[in-house]
Parts: sequence; C-alpha cells; structure tokens
Amino acid sequence: MIDSFEKIPVKIFTTPQQGSQFVAEEIAALIKEKQQQGQQCVLGLATGSTPISLYAELVRKHREEGLSFKNVISFNLDEYYPIDKDVFQSYRSFMYRHLFSHIDMDPSQIHIPDAELPKDDIKKHCQQYETLIEEAGGIDLQILGIGNNGHIGFNEPGSAIFSRTRLVSLDNLTRLANAYEFQNISQVPRMAITMGISTILKAKRILLMAWGMKAPVVVKSVEGHVSEQVPASILQQHNDCTFVLDETAAAELTRIQSPWLTGECEWTPAIIKRAVVHMAMKTNKPVLSLTTHDYNEHGLGDLLVEKGEAYDINLQVYYMLRDSITGWPGGKPDVIIPNHPERSNPYPKRSLVFSPHPDDDIISMGGTLMRLHDQGHDVHVAYQTSGNIAVTDEFVTRFLDFAVGFEEMSGIDTSKSLAMLSEARNFLSEKKKNQSDTLQIRAVKGLIRRCEAKAACHYVGLKEDHVHFLHLPFYETGTVEKSPMGEQDIQIVMDLLKKLQPQQIFCAGDLADPHGTHKVCLDIIFESIHRLQAEGAEWLKDCWIWLYKGAWQEWDIADIEMAIPMSPDQVMKKRFGIFIHQSQKDMIPFQGTDSREFWQRAEDRNANTARLYAELGLTKYASVEAFVRWHF
Ligand code: F6R
Repeated sequence: MIDSFEKIPVKIFTTPQQGSQFVAEEIAALIKEKQQQGQQCVLGLATGSTPISLYAELVRKHREEGLSFKNVISFNLDEYYPIDKDVFQSYRSFMYRHLFSHIDMDPSQIHIPDAELPKDDIKKHCQQYETLIEEAGGIDLQILGIGNNGHIGFNEPGSAIFSRTRLVSLDNLTRLANAYEFQNISQVPRMAITMGISTILKAKRILLMAWGMKAPVVVKSVEGHVSEQVPASILQQHNDCTFVLDETAAAELTRIQSPWLTGECEWTPAIIKRAVVHMAMKTNKPVLSLTTHDYNEHGLGDLLVEKGEAYDINLQVYYMLRDSITGWPGGKPDVIIPNHPERSNPYPKRSLVFSPHPDDDIISMGGTLMRLHDQGHDVHVAYQTSGNIAVTDEFVTRFLDFAVGFEEMSGIDTSKSLAMLSEARNFLSEKKKNQSDTLQIRAVKGLIRRCEAKAACHYVGLKEDHVHFLHLPFYETGTVEKSPMGEQDIQIVMDLLKKLQPQQIFCAGDLADPHGTHKVCLDIIFESIHRLQAEGAEWLKDCWIWLYKGAWQEWDIADIEMAIPMSPDQVMKKRFGIFIHQSQKDMIPFQGTDSREFWQRAEDRNANTARLYAELGLTKYASVEAFVRWHF
C-alpha cells in the first residue's frame, strides 16, 4: 500500500503554536547561517491571521534568545489597493504591529507594495518590486498562508502560473473572508497588489502554513491535480516546498481521514464508525444496508478481514449512532442505561454553559439549554466576553434616547443621560471608518448585549443569579484584533469554576478557529481546568465537559457523541430565544463569510444533522444539536 497521496511534503503539529515554532526555528537557522557567511537573508513574508503566532515566536526569539534581524531583507507578498499606509487594516501596519516594530531590522530593508500610489504608477512600481527582489539575490525563504479558495498571496483562482507582481481584483470570497478585519464587506478594498505565482515559485524555499478550517483546500492543494483554479496546488511544481499544518487543517488528508487507504491502521471503534459512516454517506445508503461489496469497493476489505462480517460491523456502527441520541442531556435520572452519553447520577446536576459571546449559548445549544432547565438541573450560564464590538452605532443612540425618555417619564433628573446622548451623537456622526469607539460607547454597547442575554436567559427560565458576565479582559481591545489569553482571564474563569464546582460543563469547541474569540475562550477554559487539576480539585473528577460548535460549523456526523433532538415546537422556541438578541439581527457588523442570520444558520445546521442521522438509517427528527466530549 502507498504511504500517502501527498504530492508536497507535509508536517503536522498538534497546535498552530507548535507549527509556528517549527517555522520560526527554520527562519532563525537560515538567518544565523547567512550571518555566519556574512550574507543577507532574503525573506518573503505573509500577513493574515495565519502568521500571527509565527511573528510572535520570532519576536520572542529576538527578545529572549538574542536573534538579530540586522542582515534580513524582507519582501511582503501583498497589500490591499488602495489603502492608506497607516490605517489599522493595511498590511503595512499589520507587519509593524506584529513584527517590524519589535525587532532590529533595518527599516530601509523592509519592502511592502505601496498602495498609496496613483493607479497609473502601479505597473512601474510592480516591475521595480520584481527588480528589487532580483537585485537582493532572490527570495531565500518564502512564507505563505492559503485562502479558502486556494489563493496564495492574492493570486486568486485563475491566476496564471507565469504571473508576476501586479494589481489584481479580489475575489468576492476573499473579500468576505477578510471582512472580519473591517466593519463590513463594503469597506474591504476591491483590489490588491500581489507578487505573482512565478514570483513565488522563484523562491528557493517555500513554507506554507495553514491552521484550522483550511482542511478542504489543503487536501485539494496537496493531493489534487495541479490547477490554476487552486493556485496553491501549483506549489507541487516547486522542488523545496513544505506545508506546515495543525491537526485540524490536516484533517482531510487521506492518511488522516481514511488511514486504511494509506497503510495499516488500528481499527478503534471511533475509526470504524468514521469509516463506515463516511462510506454510507458516499453510497447514499443507510448503515444497515451496506454490503460486503461496498466494504471492498471502498477500501475497507481489511476491516472485514479483521473484524468479521459486514452485517456485524454495520450493526456495531448503527448502535453507536443510536446510543449518541438522547433527550436527556443531563443524563436520565434513576435509570441505568449503559451506553447513554451522560451519567444518570448525580441528579440534578449543576451544569455550567460557557458562551464566548452573549448569544452563542442559545444559538448553538438553545434546545439543550431548555431541556437541561426543564429537566430540573441547576443550570448556570457564563458569558465570557462583552461582545461589545458587534453592536451597530444606531443601537447606542436608540437606547440612550430610551434612557432619557425613561428618566423623564419617571421624574428623574435627565441631565446626565442627556449629556451622554448628545456626546454619543456627536462622536458617532464624526466617527471615521474603522475608528474605535470611546470607552463610554463601548460600555453602552456591552450593556445592550448584557440586557439581551439576561432577557434570553429569563426566557429559558434561568434565575438571574445563575447568569454570569465574565467580561474577560483579552476581548476589550475595542478592535477586531484581540489580545492573547492573559493571566487575568484564566483567574476569572478559575474563580467561577471553583465557586460553582459543576458536574457538567458545556463550551464552544471551535478548535478550528485559530485566532478568533471562540478559540481564545476555549483555551482559557482548558488552561483553567488543567490548573485546577494540577491543584488537585476533587470535584473535577466527577465533571464531564461537552463541546458544542459555534455559529459557523457543525461536528462531523461520525464524531458526534451526544445528539439532542428537538421537536418542531422546540425549534420555534429556540428561534424566538435567538430573536431576543436584537442587536445581532438584520445588520450585524463583522458578519464574516456567511450572510444568513444566526437563527437561520442554527436552524439549517440542526436540521442538516437530523437529516444526516435519518439518511444513515436512524429516526428522522426535526432538528438535532450535537456535542463531542472533551476528556481531560
Ligand atoms: C496575506 C496573503 C493571503 C493569506 C490568505 C490566508 O499576505 O497573502 O494569501 O495568506 O488569505 O489568510 P488568513 O491567514 O487570514 O487565513
């Protein structure tokens, strides 16, 4: 059997941090080697969310290990066009913020395409950029990220293999993907200056990094045909390129997804389930209808040899799917069901639901939340961040106006609220594109979201003292870019855990979201749990942690360990719960790539899970919420 289907060498690391350390180590070694030879080291650099942890590691190496960048000449891959050099979103300010301001590079050796030039001068500027790279002796090491559509630099699908540095128009998908950096999609520039594919291919060594949700495009680039429709696949033609991935970005490589196709594989129950479920989906058959012929045709002949008849394996997988479904997310009291996803005791349980933003709880597990409460558990919700940047300005004046009106109506002195209202009106009418809000406005935006969250909890039936607002400091930057997890964040979460000592915790398990708020929120919980474990917290031994996905994605059907069905009435009840978060309806800033509203995403996703279960041969429910257990 073949070892892999990969046409580009791939290195897989558990986390983006570990992958970044590997890349930083290679960069550092090259810089030092060149230093010893008295030579310049020419680096091609990328921006975007992917290299942030790489640059943090390089800065650390500079500060703590004395790595000097004095002999480095850098060329950045690309820049939006047009864009002011100094605005927060320009790639120039990104590079200074994350790297150049913290190291000892000679500023004259930093090259980034100039996006302030008039359009007529761009062609010449691009030619000069190519000449400068050649004069520097060519790029020694090029760092790349990859777009969801396979772009490298801003070479969108269709870019010619011979393309050089030039002005390009951005694919709408790219503009949507990058909208999170801007207030909304309309503010994302429509063009960019980018090195061409041939410019990139000329680099002596290329390292492409990909974390998290990039798995589908990574497998196309590494295992698919070379095609201009997937620009990164052209890297197959380079003789010294490596893809550096974290486990999530590697998840769809054949050796991970279907290890039985690339060599010997240990048939654990989880792998058997995945293999059989995916085969059933490919053949459009319910699990119990799969035949020996299907197994052989799908490369699962080995499984039959090792584990017996198709009939028995089908049944084993069918039972695993069946046993994941339950209407009792807190366990069914007083009944011992051996394969039930949750324990029946203790009953009632103290259940703590962590919600990164003040609405992820109801969006992602609203049906489960209501069941937990209705089934008598002691349910607490902890909102980790204030969510204040995702409220439109109009809401602020509308609510301040309400405050003034309310005070007037109640005979309370309105001078303070009136002053706040007029200050807010003045500030907001003059507010520049992408300017951060004042502290006061951020506070009002946070308050609006808090009130919505309280109202939604009340709707579910939770008591007010069971609703916790943690207001984690890492989030409070006032911009889309957040700080990394800090000591204070961990302490706040640890304090709550110590106080409540829950037997069951739910949290947003967006493992595939390397730099977003959800991932930081999850890391903070994981770190807190590990520390409490190290302190010997007894109660933790009887605590189970369940992960739900955020608004964006769902677990692979084969990985789901607890599936909570909802009736059509419960779906409607959940929808109205989501509606309570009014500031998140209709006009949401930082919407990202999906233009549907949150309730639509949640309903489509839950209905899809129900449909998949039915197609696999299980009962057809209207809707299903899904969880995976995290063992710590
Ligand atoms: C950035 C660049 C782009 C990004 C790609 C991935 O300089 O050239 O190709 O590498 O869009 O972006 P992130 O890393 O934000 O997912």
